[in-house]
Amino acid sequence: MIIGSNLLFYEKLSSTNSQASLLLKDKDLPEGTVVYTDFQTGGRGQGANRWESEKCKNLLLSIILYPDSVQPEEQFAISIAISLGICDFIDRYYSGCKIKWPNDIYINNGKIAGILIENSIFGPEIKSSVAGIGLNINQENFPDNISNPISLKQVAGKEFDRDVILEQLLSDLDIRYKQLLYGDRSHLKDEYISRLYRLNEWCAFKSGNKEFTGRITDISDHGNLRIEGQNGRIAEFSFREVDYVL
Ligand code: BTN
Repeated sequence: MIIGSNLLFYEKLSSTNSQASLLLKDKDLPEGTVVYTDFQTGGRGQGANRWESEKCKNLLLSIILYPDSVQPEEQFAISIAISLGICDFIDRYYSGCKIKWPNDIYINNGKIAGILIENSIFGPEIKSSVAGIGLNINQENFPDNISNPISLKQVAGKEFDRDVILEQLLSDLDIRYKQLLYGDRSHLKDEYISRLYRLNEWCAFKSGNKEFTGRITDISDHGNLRIEGQNGRIAEFSFREVDYVL
């Protein structure tokens, strides 16, 4: 086992990603070290977003990885492996979760998990990667400022033991991480594409201040989203260049 070989628990942290990055500065931590906590005072999301999570209800963790064989230009492959690992875990209890590009995990139209991957790139290699995951497990009441949240308890109809859940999640992530390191990456990419939220469905998107109708066809090797417009042309978008209109 790589992921979960070393577990570091904290009752409270500002952010598990920040703590993992801090530890990486002056310690040689084994690959697969998991920093996890019951509560974050400054949980971080993509961009300027925050990640809020009720104390002791959910999973808040960051995994330290050294993905030597992944080139910086292939870094989206890490997102693919982590997203699929979370989906595999959710499948144990509820089938049909989707990946809302680039890496939000959705059940129906609700977000059950968010991923924040922070890579340290030096020259031609990824020196380390911190893969942060916030996964809603037992929380039932969410603040109004969080848009469309959902938890495993809400869909599966029962309370979960977070220690058991953590072990299962880490095991599912470990399988996907090993596939990333030693397996067929194009197969992982195909699985990711087949899991995409609203794949092949005509729906509304927004790019800048322009709204348009299109359908997601696939992603590029760099992880850009490809959307076919109504004129039949396919346009490619990098992160933040396009948004779904929900
Ligand atoms: C997003 O959806 O914008 C990404 C959210 C990622 C949240 C997790 S919670 C554990 C880890 N620590 C953080 O500060 N953020 C990630």
